[in-house]
Amino acid sequence: MKKQAKVLVFVFGLFCLLGFGIGTASAQLAQLPAKEYIERMDRDARAGDLKIDQVIAKLGLKPGDIVADIGSGSGAFSIPMAKAIAPNGILYAEDIDKDLLAYVADKAQKEGVTNIRTVLGVYDDPKLPVRIDVAFFHRVLHMIEHRQLFLNNTAPYLKPDGRIVIIDKNPEDSPNSWMWLRQSDVDTWMAALSFYPAEKYGVFDDKYFVVYQRPYGNSVLLKRRTATAER
Ligand SMILES: C[S@@+](CC[C@H](N)C(=O)[O-])C[C@H]1O[C@@H](n2cnc3c(N)ncnc32)[C@H](O)[C@@H]1O
Repeated sequence: MKKQAKVLVFVFGLFCLLGFGIGTASAQLAQLPAKEYIERMDRDARAGDLKIDQVIAKLGLKPGDIVADIGSGSGAFSIPMAKAIAPNGILYAEDIDKDLLAYVADKAQKEGVTNIRTVLGVYDDPKLPVRIDVAFFHRVLHMIEHRQLFLNNTAPYLKPDGRIVIIDKNPEDSPNSWMWLRQSDVDTWMAALSFYPAEKYGVFDDKYFVVYQRPYGNSVLLKRRTATAER
C-alpha cells in the first residue's frame, strides 16, 4: 500500500474509533461531577425548592413500599422517602455515578436510616434487583439521551399496579430550554407501555409532576373507571 493510502486508512480508523467511543459513552445529554450535584441538590433541598414533604404526601408512600429513586443524586429525596416507608419498606437509591451513591450511603448511615440500598445503574437501564411499587424520577429523565429506551427498560421492574412518577420541565418553562423534556412526549412513550397519567399534581410552578400507572389491580385508573360505571 502506498504511504498516502496508509495514512488515509489510519485517519479513517482513528475517526471510526473515536466516533464509536463517543457514540457509546455519551448516552447522556449532560452530566456534572458528583461534587457539583451534591452542592446544587443539597442547596435546593435546604431552600425548600424541592418541596420534598409535599411530594411524599401526594404520593402517599407508606411503610412496606418498595421505591426506587432513579438518578438519586445527593439523596435529597431518597433519605426522606426511606423514612416514609420504614421500617419494612426498602428505598433503592439508583444512579450512574458511584461517588453520588457513596455519598447517599454515608448520609443514610449518619442519619441512622437503615432501609436504603444503593444501585449502580447503566445509561439505559436502572438495573434494579427487585420489582418495585414506585419508580421516582425527579429532574433525571431529561438528562438521559435514550429516554424512551430507559422507560422501556424501567417498566418491567414495576409490580402490576406500580407507579412511575415523573417530575420534569417542559422546554417552554425554562430559559435554557435545549435539554428539557416535553410532558406530551413522556405521555406518548408511557402509553406505548400501557402506562397512563393517573394523577397530576400542581406542586411546582415550573415543573410537571405526573404519576403514571397501568389500568390493573389496585390502579387508581381502574378504581376510577369502576366508580364511574357504578354511578
Ligand atoms: C439533576 S440531578 C437530580 C438528582 C435527584 N433526583 C434530585 O432531584 O435531587 C440528576 C441525577 O441523575 C443522574 N443520572 C443522569 N443520567 C442517569 C441515568 N442514565 N441513569 C440514572 N441516573 C442518571 C445524575 O448522576 C444525577 O445524580
